[in-house]
Amino acid sequence: MSELLKMLGCRYPIIQGPIGMFNSPKMVAAVSEAGGYGLLAVGFINDADTVKGLIDDVRKLTDKPFGANIVLMNPNSGEYLKILADAGVKTVTTSVGSPKDIYPVIHDLGMKGIHVVLALQHAISAVTAGADALVIASAEAGGLRSLNSESSTMVLVPLVADHVKVPIVAAGGIADSRGYKAAFALGAEGVQVGTRFLASDESPASEQWKKAIVECPDGGTGLIPLGNMKLANRLIITPWIRERLADPSTKNIADELDRNPDATGNYERAAFGAGQISALIKDIKPIKAIIEEMVS
Ligand SMILES: Cc1cc2nc3c(=O)[nH]c(=O)nc-3n(C[C@H](O)[C@H](O)[C@H](O)COP(=O)(O)O)c2cc1C
Repeated sequence: MSELLKMLGCRYPIIQGPIGMFNSPKMVAAVSEAGGYGLLAVGFINDADTVKGLIDDVRKLTDKPFGANIVLMNPNSGEYLKILADAGVKTVTTSVGSPKDIYPVIHDLGMKGIHVVLALQHAISAVTAGADALVIASAEAGGLRSLNSESSTMVLVPLVADHVKVPIVAAGGIADSRGYKAAFALGAEGVQVGTRFLASDESPASEQWKKAIVECPDGGTGLIPLGNMKLANRLIITPWIRERLADPSTKNIADELDRNPDATGNYERAAFGAGQISALIKDIKPIKAIIEEMVS
């Protein structure tokens, strides 16, 4: 059994990618029930009771292991880790922020941590800070990205594998058995899957969001900068975004986008986060079917 599988305690080394503030205990449980490692996204939650409620909801649906993603910028991360440890969670992932201070806390609680990195230098620093494993989230992945030049999975996974001794997990561009097998050939011990699970029956994404993924053509996503920060979101380029990008007077699309169109009904301006792999996803199906095909 690989080091990563020992850490996760599940059957297949497939981690569900956290999706910002979107949580679905149904999806977490479906991933874990199918043999993967479901993850709650607690990074954007502001109170401990919500975290406890989500854990309880997952536990009602599965007795299989699951974890959570901690966003290091959230000042409540230490408190959430204690709640997760008390609930029996053995391994968490950590992202967005320096891992330096949190890894001693994770280890004191008897847990393992997998830090998400976007570049080689961050991978090396995370291991120095005590990360037990790494998720290598490469340029093609959905989610928060940097505007620095980033490397793709094909380049970054073997590069990091050549420089660190901890297990690595490939994230970015993996949606089927071809991507899954390729990740191992590149030196990873497992994969983290975001966009493919987002386009599943159990996903918390709206029908409009799932449809945008299924209809996304090759090259149909892009990096939309977030204000003045050196950060960007990889989003599906909708007709509205395309129009705004073509307008020379456009300064900051991020502020004009609707991040919660389910609440406002303003789907025209929706920010549909998704990876480049959207172009390969042609149907919405149950998580179990996705995982069974992936490991076949
Ligand atoms: C809409 C969206 C939101 C995301 N939010 C987070 C997040 O909060 N924390 C995180 O570590 N990763 C986040 N990710 C990255 C995913 O967890 C995962 O690593 C990535 O989607 C993998 O690449 P793929 O989309 O090609 O499968 C997000 C991805 C998407 C598409």
